[in-house]
Amino acid sequence: KRVVAFISGSGSNMVRLAEACADPDFPAEIVAVFSDKPEAGGLTKAEAFGIPTFVFPRKNYTSKDAHEEAILDELERQQPDIVCLAGYMRLLSGRFISRYEGKILNIHPSLLPLFPGLDTHRRAIEAGMKIAGCTVHFVTEGMDEGPQIVQAAVPVLAGDTPADLAARVLTVEHRAYPLALRLFAEGKVRMEDGRAVVVGAA
Ligand code: GRF
Repeated sequence: KRVVAFISGSGSNMVRLAEACADPDFPAEIVAVFSDKPEAGGLTKAEAFGIPTFVFPRKNYTSKDAHEEAILDELERQQPDIVCLAGYMRLLSGRFISRYEGKILNIHPSLLPLFPGLDTHRRAIEAGMKIAGCTVHFVTEGMDEGPQIVQAAVPVLAGDTPADLAARVLTVEHRAYPLALRLFAEGKVRMEDGRAVVVGAA
């Protein structure tokens, strides 16, 4: 399965997906990495894997629409089976989502439906949560609300700062995303009528 990964930052999740895909038995390969940020640290990491990178700086385009149009044009050329958003900090338009519905995965640093949106670790600590974690889900029109594929939890420890919790959650993100990608690429899970459906024995 052909995967295009989207990043905006350090790309640590993309790196773990690339490492998983490097295993010849893994049912997917990352054919390109896209970013909206020329300064994204993940771009050099992708190049180290020999993965072609494509950068679309928002300021190069007159509108949000034109920006996404350019991204969709190149995405079409890549013929992806799967789009993996990995630390990509833009919302996709309805046009984008309907074009690839059921094939777009995202990782969010909270146990959805708790704490959609930004600043999830500070909010979890302030809410007095004793567990936190991440969710890999199918991307739908609403932000952070598509059907869930994999969740992973970690403890919130006394005295945790948001940075402490973010680092602990990141360690399980790096296991959850490759697992979710494998399950989807193998056809063991898919999106059907807006729900994630496990096909056969997960
Ligand atoms: C991670 O917490 C991820 O959940 C969120 O962005 C953060 C950085 O991800 N989407 P990465 O290191 O760029 O993969």
